Amino acid sequence: MSDTVIRVENLAKKYVLGQQEEGSSYKTFRGAMTNAAKSFSNALNPRAKKEARATKGEFWALKDVSFEIKQGDRVGFIGRNGAGKSTLLKVLSRITEPTSGSIRIKGRVASLLEVGTGFHPELTGRENIFLNGAILGMSKVDIKRKFDEIVAFSEVEKFLDTPVKRYSSGMYVRLAFAVAAHLEPEILIVDEVLAVGDAQFQKKCLGKMEDVGKEGRTVLFVSHQMSAVESLCNRGILLQSGKLCLDDNPQKVINAYLDSAYTLAEKIPLNRRTDRKGNGKVKVSSFRVLNQEGDEQQALQSGKDYYFEIGYQSNLGNYLNNAIVSLDFYDEKNTRVIMLQNKFTNSQLTLDPKGGSIICGIKNLLLANGLYRIGIFISYGDSEILDWIEDAASICVDGGDFFGTGSPGLPSHCKVLVKAEWSSTESADSIFDYQKL
Ligand SMILES: Nc1ncnc2c1ncn2[C@@H]1O[C@H](COP(=O)(O)OP(=O)(O)OP(=O)(O)O)[C@@H](O)[C@H]1O
Ligand SMILES: [Mg+2]
Repeated sequence: MSDTVIRVENLAKKYVLGQQEEGSSYKTFRGAMTNAAKSFSNALNPRAKKEARATKGEFWALKDVSFEIKQGDRVGFIGRNGAGKSTLLKVLSRITEPTSGSIRIKGRVASLLEVGTGFHPELTGRENIFLNGAILGMSKVDIKRKFDEIVAFSEVEKFLDTPVKRYSSGMYVRLAFAVAAHLEPEILIVDEVLAVGDAQFQKKCLGKMEDVGKEGRTVLFVSHQMSAVESLCNRGILLQSGKLCLDDNPQKVINAYLDSAYTLAEKIPLNRRTDRKGNGKVKVSSFRVLNQEGDEQQALQSGKDYYFEIGYQSNLGNYLNNAIVSLDFYDEKNTRVIMLQNKFTNSQLTLDPKGGSIICGIKNLLLANGLYRIGIFISYGDSEILDWIEDAASICVDGGDFFGTGSPGLPSHCKVLVKAEWSSTESADSIFDYQKL
C-alpha cells in the first residue's frame, strides 16, 4: 500500500429500518471515540454481499464507495444531510460494521464522531483521558506526557475529577476533541465538531487539525462549513445519497456541492423532501417570502421589509405552546450569516394540530447582494426537534436602497450591510475631542 493509509473498496452499508443496529451500544457513550485500528485489518465477510439485496424497509446509507487516502492527506467529506458522511466515518472508525466491501487501514485511528459516542459517562474527565490513551495503545508514561496539553486545550481543568455525564455538551466536546487530537493518532477522524463549540473553540480546533496535518498525519473531516473545508483540506470528497460522486481538490468539490444544493432546494416541494431531521410530528410544507403588500417575492432587496411564511402540516393531536422556530440564512460558503428565532425576542408561538403557518416579519433587510440558502428548524422546547430542513429554500438578494441614498448600487463583496456615520478630523484632534464639539 506504500504511502496509502486507507483503502476502501466497494463499501456499502445497509440499515434495516426499525431494527436495532449492531454496535449501537456505543450510543450510550458520549464524546470522543478513540479507536485503535489494527494494521491492515479485516477484509470483510464475502457472504454479506449475497445478503445485500434490497428489500422493503431496507435503506442503503452507503453504496459502492471506493477511494484511497495517502498519508498526510487532509480530506474534507461534504454532502447534504443524510448523504452518508457520518456513516462512512463510523464505518472507518469501526463503530459500525459495513454490509459489504472492504476497508484497510494502516495506523492508529482516533475519532471524534457526533456527540453521543466515545467517553464512558460514569468516569471522570481524567479517567477518560487515560482510558482513551490506553485504547489507542499508548503507555501510561506517554499519556502523562500529553496530559497537561490535553487539559490546557480543553479548558475543563476545574472539572477533571467530575464524571463526564455531568459535563455540558460544550465541555464534553472540548475534552473529546483535545483527547482525539493530542494523543498522537496517525489518522484523525472528526465529524462536525465545529457545529458544537463557540467560535473561539472552532478556530482552535481548526488550528489543531492544521498542525496535525502539517506533522504529516492524516485528517478526515466532515463539515457543512465550506470555509473550514477550504482552509484545512487538500482534497474533497462529495457524497450524494450514499455514493461518492466527486473526489478532487476542495474548491472543485465545494462548487459542485453548492450547485447541487441550490438546484435541489428549488425542485422538490418541501413536504416531499427527505433530507430532513426531527420526529415528524410537524412537517414544514411550504416557504414563501412576501412583501408588505402580501405579494410573493422571488428576489429580495436590501433595506426592505419582508414577511417569511412557513406553512406546516401537523400530527400533533393537540395545540403545542412553546414552539421554537428558526430561520437560518447561509451564504454560498455555508456560513450562517443570520439566524432569526422567536426565542430571541421572547415571542410565543403555538402550533395548531390541524397545521397552519408561522409568520416572521423583518424590517430593513440587511443582507448584501448574493445568493443565500435558508434552513428551517422547528422544535418543542430545547430538546425535541419536530422538523429541520437545512436546505429548505434559496433566496437571491439583488439591489435595493439600503443606505437610503437613492442609489441601488450595493456592494456584493460583503454579506451584511450596516449604516455608518463617517467624519474626519484634523490631524491634531482625536475622535473624542471631536465628539465633545
Ligand atoms: N442507525 C440507523 N438506522 C437507520 N438509518 C440510519 C441510521 N443511521 C443513519 N441512517 C440513515 O442513513 C442515511 C445517512 O446518514 P448519515 O448520518 O451518514 O448522513 P450524514 O451525511 O452524516 O448527514 P448529516 O449531514 O445530516 O450529518 C440517512 O438517511 C440516515 O437517516
Ligand atoms: Mg452526519
